[in-house]
Amino acid sequence: MKTDEKIQAAVLGKPLNRVDGRAKVTGQAKYAAEHLPEGVKYGVLLQSTIARGTMEAIDDSQALKLPGVIAVVTHKNSGNNKAGKSGMFDNELNLLQSNKIFHDRQNIGVVVADTYEIACQAAALVKVTYKEEKPIVNVHDPSSSPPEYAPADNAGLGIKTDTSRGDAQKNWQGAPVKFHHTYSTPREVHCPMEPHATTAMWEGDKLTVWDATQGVSGAQSRLAAIFHIPPENVRVICPYTGGGFGCKGSVWSNTPLTALAAKIAKVPVCLNMKRTQTFGPVGFRPYTSQQIRMGADKSGKLTAIIHNARMEVSEFDEFVENCAIVTRFLYSCPNVQTTHRLVKQSIGKPTWMRAPGETPGTFALESAMDELAAATDIDPIQVRLINYSEKDEENNLPYSNKNLRRCYELGAQKIGWDKRNPKPRSVHDDSGLLVGMGMATATYPVWAFPSHARAVIAQNGHATVQSGSQDIGTGTYTIMTQIAADELALPMDKITFELGDTRLPPAGVSGGSTSATCVGTAVKDACDKLVHKMIALAVADGKSPLHGMKPADIEAHNGGLQSKTDRTKSDRYVEILKRSGKTELEARSVENLNPEAGKYSMHSFGAHFCEVKVDPDFGSVRISRWVAVIDGGKIFNMKTAVSQIYGGIIMGVGMALMEESLMDPRYGRTMNADFAEYHVPVHADIPDLHVEFVQIPDYKANPLGGHGIGEIGITGAAAAVANAVYNATGVRVRDLPISLDKLMG
Ligand code: MOS
Repeated sequence: MKTDEKIQAAVLGKPLNRVDGRAKVTGQAKYAAEHLPEGVKYGVLLQSTIARGTMEAIDDSQALKLPGVIAVVTHKNSGNNKAGKSGMFDNELNLLQSNKIFHDRQNIGVVVADTYEIACQAAALVKVTYKEEKPIVNVHDPSSSPPEYAPADNAGLGIKTDTSRGDAQKNWQGAPVKFHHTYSTPREVHCPMEPHATTAMWEGDKLTVWDATQGVSGAQSRLAAIFHIPPENVRVICPYTGGGFGCKGSVWSNTPLTALAAKIAKVPVCLNMKRTQTFGPVGFRPYTSQQIRMGADKSGKLTAIIHNARMEVSEFDEFVENCAIVTRFLYSCPNVQTTHRLVKQSIGKPTWMRAPGETPGTFALESAMDELAAATDIDPIQVRLINYSEKDEENNLPYSNKNLRRCYELGAQKIGWDKRNPKPRSVHDDSGLLVGMGMATATYPVWAFPSHARAVIAQNGHATVQSGSQDIGTGTYTIMTQIAADELALPMDKITFELGDTRLPPAGVSGGSTSATCVGTAVKDACDKLVHKMIALAVADGKSPLHGMKPADIEAHNGGLQSKTDRTKSDRYVEILKRSGKTELEARSVENLNPEAGKYSMHSFGAHFCEVKVDPDFGSVRISRWVAVIDGGKIFNMKTAVSQIYGGIIMGVGMALMEESLMDPRYGRTMNADFAEYHVPVHADIPDLHVEFVQIPDYKANPLGGHGIGEIGITGAAAAVANAVYNATGVRVRDLPISLDKLMG
């Protein structure tokens, strides 16, 4: 129970600066490629220069002659390093086990040398002779591509491949208003600021790895499986991750290859992937093509939605971009059918990229809702309100917390939606640019992964709180310190939060927008248990002012404990520990299963509103204004939270207007594998963004009342742009990105 006084003093929710901000801007924060153990050598990846075929020969003689070269590791000298079967990551990690090439830039080896420069030169001297086969890069053309197939229900996450309720086909056929459109999204690459990097060091059969990862625990278990050693022999350390967006959520071959190179070369190895090497072998969002058939009555009420998603996948590993899951619940509709189909291509394995499924899925669904608004001559917000879902109709569950109406209302007010002219291509600004406004709904589920934490107060009164989580740039260090500060009633600077080490209590992957809530719940629990241990010490201590009191009447307050019934009675942690003769007191979280799980459908929601200006001659699109209102429960830190939504919107603008990984259809090679050619938004592309939160806590989701918000911001964002472009120009672009050629003529 919290007193009013405590709530007022709470730091959770405040817009505090990052506790690791100074370390980051001064270069003190060390990333994976900056941990350089004594005797470290440098690794450079060898990658295939064909997209499909076999390696006939590898000539490393010239490379090995170069002074300073220590080893060239390829399938010829790698030994047995099969990861074994354990779910969806298998084949990607069956490293260097054959001469087969499945995709462009496949990792085929590592050169180890005294310096990075020598390793680069040596890598260029390794001559690989290939027997090339024609790559399969034809997903865009269903008439010539391999047959699509239905994957098994998406491994592990409990997401069904296909669903059907009511009779969608019949009701779509008979609908008074109906359309059938195909929306497509290109292959997109994560491009975190920090490319994948690993430093690996062996001591006997013990492996220490500094890895750029979103999940130290997952990396530990996969490395143990690959090298056939017990997990406790593998330590993975990652105090800082320079962005991930999903591409560092699982283990890719660069990490075990670095460890393998270190093993074979018998030296610690640091391997930092070059930017251009990351376009292919470390995941990307697959190309999707989504057919939506939407049927409604004349009043705009949906009667049927059929959402068939088709996407590319690698020949050797499966991944499903769950595009159609949003269509299953986002709007009230009695007849809904959804399917996901895969088409094998000569590409690396696609993977999670910020709101995988929801991001391309909301582009399609929210574009279609805008088309429904146009077809029925109803305002886009109104058409969404007409079809507002009061419960999750797919699972027949109430929502734990849904305040989407408030998002529409507040967003409309902030952007001035009432001034929008619904007639496309009817507004010009003073300089003759076409002006348009569009909106779209955002949604992302509440996931939960088991996480653990430990809290310690030392005799000097300083607390250390730990969890084997990660901070991928989202603010985990800061938020966890805030949670601990409230529970322990200590100032922020009396708490050190530690993460990113498999020696700490294990936590889940920092993906699925889970770290803030799941690690936060564990931190809260560990700190709460620590306070209770402290209370037990105090009440049993004859010298404590709290001696003999009921533990339930005592709470943490101002660096110690205080009686709730008599505010004059208090004790300090430092004093309690000193008198007890203990050097420190420790507590651990217990695994908390959410009793509300399964009883509610848990999602975050939101609404994006965007204004664009389009050059009528050149078709160039500029975002001129943006308002986003997010319904994500309680907000833990207003500053880092706003920053997450900014990032999501900016990534959504990139998706809408720029990002597209292009492949040469003759050779299956990526043509734009660098920042000169693969465009992501820069400051000049983004106006001031206005972000608000509804801030209604959801205590059914977790004891903190918040939702993870790392991914909600990108969902719906690309549709908001496309819908605004339609309003500005009258041109409906259904295949991203909205490049200027699509708006000319
Ligand atoms: Mo995210 S795509 O769950 O890292």
